[in-house]
This record gives sequence, C-alpha cells and structure tokens, in this order.
Amino acid sequence: MSGGRLGKDLLGLEHLSADDIRLILDTAEPFKEISERAIKKVPVLRGKTIVNLFFEPSTRTRISFEFAEKRLSADTVNVASAGSSVVKGETLVDTARNLEAMRIDMVVMRHGASGAARFLGERIESSVINAGDGKHEHPTQGLLDLLTIRDHRPIAGTKVCIVGDVLHSRVARSNIWGLLKLGAEVAVCGPQTLLPLGIGELGVRVFRRVEEAIEWADVLNVLRLQLERMQAGYVPSTREYYRVFGVTLERLERAPRDLIIMHPGPMNRGVEIDSRVADGPHAVILDQVTNGVAVRMAVLYLLAGGRPELAESAKGAPER
Ligand code: CP
Repeated sequence: MSGGRLGKDLLGLEHLSADDIRLILDTAEPFKEISERAIKKVPVLRGKTIVNLFFEPSTRTRISFEFAEKRLSADTVNVASAGSSVVKGETLVDTARNLEAMRIDMVVMRHGASGAARFLGERIESSVINAGDGKHEHPTQGLLDLLTIRDHRPIAGTKVCIVGDVLHSRVARSNIWGLLKLGAEVAVCGPQTLLPLGIGELGVRVFRRVEEAIEWADVLNVLRLQLERMQAGYVPSTREYYRVFGVTLERLERAPRDLIIMHPGPMNRGVEIDSRVADGPHAVILDQVTNGVAVRMAVLYLLAGGRPELAESAKGAPER
C-alpha cells in the first residue's frame, strides 16, 4: 500500500512531524461522530483486508482496531499467537508472508519485542501499524491521549505529568514524543528504579514526589506497574508503591487546580490509582477509549491513501 502522506507504516510517534500528528488528530474529528454515535458503517475501506496480529494480551487496542476497521467497511481477520502456527515455531516474518499470500492490505500488530513492528514493516509490502511493541512505542495510544487532551485544552503549553512505571512503558514513550512535538511541557514521576536513565535529556522534567507532580501539572497520565515486564524487585511492594506514589483523592484535593486524570488501561485500582479518582469527575479514562476508535479510523484511512479533506464527507456516505 502507498500510505499517502504518512508513508507505508505507522511504527511510532518519534519519527512523525508535528504536522503529521496534527493531520491524524484533525482527520479523527469527523470520525468521532461515526464512532461515538455508532452511525452506520462508511464504505471508505471496502475491499481492503486487515489482519490484527496480537502476540500479547489486549482488550482496548484490539477491540478498538476491530471496531475502527468494521466501521470503515474493511474485512478483518484476528490472529492471536495462541492457536496460530507461531506456537509451532513459525517465525514472525513467515507468518506475515503467509498472510500476505492470502492478499491482505494491512497488519495491525502487538508484539512483546521492541522493534518488532519496524522489523516486519521492512520485510512485507502491506502496511504495518504498531499496536504496541515491547517497551518501545504504542503510537495509536499516544495519539488518542493527545486527542483527549485537545478535547479539553490546547496541547501547546499544557503541563502533562506521566506518573508510574515509565521504564517499561511504550505508552509513556509515545506520549512523550507526541506531547513534546505539539509543544506541551512534559514531566515524569515515579520511583527512580522505574524511570529510564537520561530521560531528562529529552527535555522532560523529573519529579521524585507525586505531591510535587500534582502541584505542577494540568494533566496526570497514570501508568500501571508492568509487573509482567519486571525481572527484579523494582518496588518493595504494591502496597508501598500506592502509599508513596498512588494518585489518591486526598492528594488531588490538595492540588492548586482541577487536574485532568488519564490512564491508558488496564488499571490496577488501589495500586497506582484510587478508585475514587478513576471514577471521579476529573477522570477522562473512558473518553480516551472512545477517542481510540476515531483515532484508529483516521490512521487506517490515511495509511490506505485516504485524503484528509474527504474524511469529513465520509460521515455523510453511509454504507449501501
Ligand atoms: N491501553 C492498552 O493498550 O490497553 P490494552 O492492553 O487492553 O490494549
């Protein structure tokens, strides 16, 4: 596939320009109406076949991509590693080449290895969309987070603090690249063991105390402890983590302004976030999920060569 202005693949936000990111967010706007009101499908990807290839668990991303694909009238196939020939030792490239032999147009892939999406994109002709690769990037999550912030305030100048396990987080990396490109002020906060070395060199502030982060920020993006990626004891216990870094109602009540509370999910209530905060008036966590469908529709549409100026007219073109 040609991919239009974005190129063939979407592998991350690090190598997109601010204009490319704005193009995706702006293209997502007309798709919001289709996804939020479940307006009938639009035929813009009719005849395209998309494979969702998930080698790691996912609820939001996989289902959101599937909704986006179906609402654009694409044909979709879901492949999970369990139940596929990967468990018999087939390589990633062989799996993808066999799928291509069945005439597919795009692969949406989640994989545990950082760089897996680029590796695949360089070896197959179909477009590859990174749905999360190891600790590297999760670009559509970064984009939906940007869209959600933009729904509430201009991104440029907004102070966003990412709180928690930044070290293991592809969501944090995509957010940092996207936010910095669009002119936000970015900070991270967490135990020293869970912050990447040299993160400050990217132009990101570092807070050691969550109370300081709450005092500074307009937006908190709270991350879960990715225990499945930790080989050693990065924190003494989840109870201790909550005591020191938990985003609790008591801490937020001392904030000098109302904060927007975000979380990419899945949440561990009582570990990184208090239930009263997650379900409270300042949380936009479910709005993020809703925006995810529109952002993914925009990415699929643009990679398929769709013209951004025609996205608006797509919502007036119901499936026949
Ligand atoms: N945010 C996110 O990637 O969630 P899933 O793991 O459920 O896809």
